[in-house]
Amino acid sequence: MAIAEDLEVASFLKGQPKKLFIGGRWVDSASGKTFETLDPATGEVLARVAEAGAEDVDRAVAAARKSFDSGVWRDLPPAERARALWRVGDMIEERALEFAQLDSLDNGMPINDALIWFVPFAAATFRYYAGWATKLDGATQQISLPGNYLSYTLRQPVGVVGQIIPWNLPIMMAAWKIAPALACGNSVVLKPSEETPLSALLLAELLQQADVPDGVVNVVPGFGETAGARLASHPDVDKVAFTGSTEVGRLIAKAAADSNLKRVSLELGGKSPNIVFADADLAKAASGAFFGIFFNQGQMCSAGSRLFVQEKVYDETVDSLLKTVAEARVGPGMDPVTQIGPLVSKTQMDRVLGYINLGNKEGARMLIGGGRPEGMDRGNFVQPTVFADVDGKMRIAQEEIFGPVVAAIPFKDEEDLVQKANNTMYGLVAGVWTRDVGRAHRVAHALKAGTVYVNCYHIVDPVTPWGGFKQSGWGRELGPYALDLYTELKNVIVDLS
Ligand code: NAI
Ligand code: MG
Repeated sequence: MAIAEDLEVASFLKGQPKKLFIGGRWVDSASGKTFETLDPATGEVLARVAEAGAEDVDRAVAAARKSFDSGVWRDLPPAERARALWRVGDMIEERALEFAQLDSLDNGMPINDALIWFVPFAAATFRYYAGWATKLDGATQQISLPGNYLSYTLRQPVGVVGQIIPWNLPIMMAAWKIAPALACGNSVVLKPSEETPLSALLLAELLQQADVPDGVVNVVPGFGETAGARLASHPDVDKVAFTGSTEVGRLIAKAAADSNLKRVSLELGGKSPNIVFADADLAKAASGAFFGIFFNQGQMCSAGSRLFVQEKVYDETVDSLLKTVAEARVGPGMDPVTQIGPLVSKTQMDRVLGYINLGNKEGARMLIGGGRPEGMDRGNFVQPTVFADVDGKMRIAQEEIFGPVVAAIPFKDEEDLVQKANNTMYGLVAGVWTRDVGRAHRVAHALKAGTVYVNCYHIVDPVTPWGGFKQSGWGRELGPYALDLYTELKNVIVDLS
């Protein structure tokens, strides 16, 4: 789809190539290299972006270090930090359409999802953490030893924070990372995904307009194996926060361990169970099953990719899911009627199509979908796909597909369900559909997942902790929990005698 001249976003995409944002200045990469970011609905080039390499990451870390040590940000009165963060929230809201267009073009997501969910969430995240900037209190301890001591704690910023984010929710992920880090007084080097670098660059512009001092936030688009890897292993980075695949999460933890034991937080993959009991409101559950897996093309760490349905209502529930799937509108994200857009890249499309072939080979029963929609070969479109009668041991029931593919699995009773649902290496979220309040809580307690939804799905707010059990990650983002990720706790003990 050509970018119409009347789109606000056109102004941002002009003046290519986009540069790196280091020390408050827009600069070329040291190597002079650039890369193209594409529109996944057409394969057309959206923009050329300077490609950060290790040397550029080093420059960005040096700028962040300088700003941190100078105290320009961390020693500002907390209310001033709060004011700046609140302004960023306002500015995101004022330019919501532009952000939504950028993420829709760069990632492929339906523009209405960006406008209704992801961009407002980014704004709300800045405002929420604006509130915390003035509330980073410590505590006092009562010491029982003989003598007279004053013991108290301080929360201090960790220092220079490296943040590596994925392509599935570009502006929202940037906000989840930057806002709490800044509230706590840290300086940041953010590496957006090479697939979707644009909205983070616009955000850098706004941060500067909101008077966040130079060097406090640096944005270095580039590839994982080069820029990302350098950030994770950099000896002068105090903490790295990562969202992405479990595979890369493991590399990040290793790089941190092998370099300076920097602090690590990881928000990784999932294979989340969405569970329908026979006593559920089945119409609501079926639409929850659709939303759970197909929202954002299934490119959600929290996607409800394993649909467990109690035997008694299995056929009925799967049938009503199929009806919704048959009516789902697949198209370019910029088309306002689109429900399911293209996948972010050809690589991701091929990966997902590979899993669909695998499901067929493994003997799962494919009920709908299964390939690329006819006549849409220019973009990375994949039909929403439902597999039924999936065995929990199959790879399509164990591995994160990260696309519009759901595996329906029948279960007998609560005990059978809990055992089956917990049988993966992941533990990010789970959904439970039931009218029995006792069952809802019993199952919620038994599931190994960071978040359990009861009779809803994909509800997230700046106040709700986010993160996973098992190999879905380390730590919790959002809410006051993110403050633990971005502060060191210091204890001061004073002899008062
Ligand atoms: P990825 O995990 O490779 O990419 C995420 C981020 O990590 C990007 O910014 C990338 O540049 C960076 N990165 C990659 N290799 C790195 C390295 N060695 N050191 C430091 N940073 C590195 O994800 P990818 O390859 O784009 O997608 C592959 C699969 O990963 C997906 O199919 C999906 O299953 C999973 N994934 C999960 C996400 C989640 O939120 N749970 C998000 C993105 C991908
Ligand atoms: Mg792109």
